[in-house]
Amino acid sequence: MIKKFEDYISRVKKFSSQDSKEIESFKIEFLGRKGVINDLFSDFKNVPSDQKKEYGQKINELKNLISKKYEDLKLGVKQSSKSITEDYTKPGFPISSGSLHPITTIKNRIINIFSKVGFELSEGPEIEDDWHNFTALNLPKDHPARDMQDTFFIQQNPDILLRTHTSSVQVRYLEDNPPPLKIISPGRVYRNEAISSRSHCIFHQIEGIYVDEKVSFADLKQMILYFTKSMFGKSKLRFRPSFFPFTEPSAEVDIYWGLETETDHRITKGTGWLEIMGCGMVDPNVLQNCNIDSEKYTGYAFGLGLERIAMLIYQIPDIRLFFENDVRFLNQFK
Ligand code: DAH
Repeated sequence: MIKKFEDYISRVKKFSSQDSKEIESFKIEFLGRKGVINDLFSDFKNVPSDQKKEYGQKINELKNLISKKYEDLKLGVKQSSKSITEDYTKPGFPISSGSLHPITTIKNRIINIFSKVGFELSEGPEIEDDWHNFTALNLPKDHPARDMQDTFFIQQNPDILLRTHTSSVQVRYLEDNPPPLKIISPGRVYRNEAISSRSHCIFHQIEGIYVDEKVSFADLKQMILYFTKSMFGKSKLRFRPSFFPFTEPSAEVDIYWGLETETDHRITKGTGWLEIMGCGMVDPNVLQNCNIDSEKYTGYAFGLGLERIAMLIYQIPDIRLFFENDVRFLNQFK
């Protein structure tokens, strides 16, 4: 009886084929309804009872061997047919790649320009307190200049607000670091404004500040000249007197954009000049509020809006396009 099993086992072991028809008949011969395994099971009743256990084990052993053989052969057929039909030299499916948002690209360019001349990056929180956003910047409570920046306050606590400008980061940095210091702070800011094609409740700024001994307005002018040359390739500038509570004197900077194209006429309102940033000499009160000796140190600061710069560089007519995340718009900046 055992001899019979050994014959089957060696037959199964020897069997090999790449042909799926042959493999299927092998399966039917052994595992089919009238196949070897079923025959062996039918013989079970004739087996003497002291051999029944061993007989049962042998059938199972054989059955497992056959099933394994069958699966292996089938897999072999599948793999060899695959290697014929699949062409790995064919081009793959196209995957479209994303791109940086234009505001991020402009931000990176500006950071790059200033880091070349020693400005370090420093960032601060978007949820601020009154001290860092206003009071320390020489804007005491009830000062009318607070109206320049319509603010989102946290209802339960009027001391907490969404920062209205990145100048708040100046204060945080000045409080923690002794001069000389030279930083730029990019970030998102919030104002409670009616949304239109030119303004939005959320936008982005970059703030810069340099404090050291003997820093003068001439240094500020030189730095802005370096920036406008690097950013726009333009160096004709105009400093208009202005007012910011945290700088004295204060100025707004215009660059001469030109009047060559129709767009130039439109964006400069026919003057050729464009306002690009606010700046000034850091008010001594701000330095004192941050425990810096304002007799010994002076500094300059400046702040600019990223959307405005991006609109100029890419000729984008409406600020809302930056916030809609329309892929047809974004795809143009790859
Ligand atoms: N914080 C000003 C604003 O949001 C921008 C600004 C103007 C920043 C002059 C400065 C500065 O540092 O000196 O309108």
